[in-house]
Amino acid sequence: MKKKILLTGATDGIGLETARTLVEQGHHVLIHGRNREKLDNVTKELTKLANNDGIETYVADLSRMSDVDALAKAVAAEHTKLDALINNAGIYSTQNTITEDGFDVRFVVNTIAPYLLTQRLLPLLEKSGRVINVSSAAQSPVDLKAFAGQSRLSHEAAYAQSKLALNMWSFALARSLAEKGPPIVAVNPGSLLGSKMVKETYGIDGGDIGIGADILVRAALSEEFGLANGRYFDNDSGKFATPHPDALNAQKSRDIVQAIELILAG
Ligand SMILES: NC(=O)c1ccc[n+]([C@@H]2O[C@H](COP(=O)([O-])OP(=O)(O)OC[C@H]3O[C@@H](n4cnc5c(N)ncnc54)[C@H](OP(=O)(O)O)[C@@H]3O)[C@@H](O)[C@H]2O)c1
Repeated sequence: MKKKILLTGATDGIGLETARTLVEQGHHVLIHGRNREKLDNVTKELTKLANNDGIETYVADLSRMSDVDALAKAVAAEHTKLDALINNAGIYSTQNTITEDGFDVRFVVNTIAPYLLTQRLLPLLEKSGRVINVSSAAQSPVDLKAFAGQSRLSHEAAYAQSKLALNMWSFALARSLAEKGPPIVAVNPGSLLGSKMVKETYGIDGGDIGIGADILVRAALSEEFGLANGRYFDNDSGKFATPHPDALNAQKSRDIVQAIELILAG
């Protein structure tokens, strides 16, 4: 059955490969990117690929909360229902690591933007939809001062902390919505898959990004993942796995949600 899926970070790497598969399968795909030209080129390629007229494009820089808000509004203006939201866009290293608002861009793009987008789009996802949050095997305990922009971290630390923080709010939201909301699942797509991020960060070719795309497609569409609310899938081991202890800690997870809400409140 044709599904309607919003996929962030569809202009490169695992996201682009995921978009290709979803389009080839005939789904209605809402692709997001931060660069209009790159997004237009991807759209041209995808349209040729499957002669699929169910492709829509949305531009938003997820390091700006006003853009995230506008993205959610634009999607909600065009659609009353989404079958899946795949929060795939992510950043590891970049020249300017501090956003206009003074926060680490990894926390903003990898943790806070997907939180805001998910919250805004919950009414469209209902119980039958699902949220797939693209996490990583790299996870480390969150320094709340750094999260709040009061101290600085290395690329590696900021990335790993942003991904654990993503898992923490994912499971907290999954618990609080329970049966009332869409399943919310965190997925490590596989480590060192050969995307732009991996090539630039580690200077290696990396593995087949198709491995990451396949698991995201499965997570978005399979019945198995529809029953996985609040769970963590680790594609390095190919199965659901026990999350990092901090992601199971209700108090620490509440602290992260509170820190996100504080930042969003401005
Ligand atoms: N590759 C791996 O081995 C691996 C392992 C674990 C987890 N992951 C996760 O998988 C996801 C996809 O990463 P990837 O490896 O495919 O990396 P990638 O090739 O660098 O793709 C990242 C995507 O996110 C977009 N993006 C980055 N910053 C953005 C911003 N400020 N606003 C909007 N979009 C932004 C990029 O846009 P542009 O095209 O404009 O750059 C691109 O579409 C990420 O969440 C990453 O953390 C990857």
